[in-house]
Amino acid sequence: MENQQTFFDFAAEVGLTKHFGGLEGTEELAGLCHIGAGTYILDVGCGAGVTSCFLARRYGCRVMGVDIRARMVERSAERARREGIAERVEFRVADAQELPFENDLFDAVLTESVTAFPEDKQRAANEYARVTRPGGYVGLAESTWLKAPPPAELVAWVSQDVGACVQPLTAGEWAGLLEKAGLQAITTHTYPVDVKKEAGLLMRRYGCGSIIGTMLRALALYARNPAYRAFVKGVRQGGIVPENLSEYFGYGMYVGKKK
Ligand SMILES: C[S@@+](CC[C@H](N)C(=O)[O-])C[C@H]1O[C@@H](n2cnc3c(N)ncnc32)[C@H](O)[C@@H]1O
Repeated sequence: MENQQTFFDFAAEVGLTKHFGGLEGTEELAGLCHIGAGTYILDVGCGAGVTSCFLARRYGCRVMGVDIRARMVERSAERARREGIAERVEFRVADAQELPFENDLFDAVLTESVTAFPEDKQRAANEYARVTRPGGYVGLAESTWLKAPPPAELVAWVSQDVGACVQPLTAGEWAGLLEKAGLQAITTHTYPVDVKKEAGLLMRRYGCGSIIGTMLRALALYARNPAYRAFVKGVRQGGIVPENLSEYFGYGMYVGKKK
């Protein structure tokens, strides 16, 4: 947990967050959740704000992005201003497990690589369902064990490589969270992780200019902050991708509709 705290604090400082599947995954999730012009979307765990801004630009929707870390929210707001869409994208600090919104407010609630982190995932899923309007959608894009149980060394590698103590579930467990939250017509699509493809997707999601800015911030942080240096070295030790990774580990899209 402490590792997770450190990881996200550094990610916020550098201004880079990600999820498996990149923008292509976001487009798929947006389609499954019927996001369109005039809809009001909640992006839970918005991180650096890339998806929130992308959704507003691409689909003409309004977006509320929330993250548990104030620094992430600042980064997201900076991005919205830079992209000239601040009037349609708003950001607030909030915990997925206790959303500060009234019932039935949003047309869709999304999380991309977020619901794997809260301690009480069911409570978070219940909150997503509560703030979604009847007929609206909850869509999760989350790390997934494709085959269970995964070997212990793979569990250790996944946690180490992502650096954030991610806790993937199986597809059945993710879908079960949505069902227990009272959602219906659950759609499940799963994909193995392709580490090389993910690097390309990250470039597309941020664009060259943004990636260069991020790298410069990371280098500056590395030079001035011994704790960051120690953290990066620790994460790198898990760097060699295990051969059987894609057999066991991937990500999934899980979408349910509110009655
Ligand atoms: C891996 S990042 C993904 C960020 C973003 N969705 C993206 O795709 O770039 C996970 C984010 O979830 C946030 N987070 C973790 N636990 C949370 C919680 N309980 N409530 C809200 N946000 C949370 C972290 O601060 C971080 O910004």
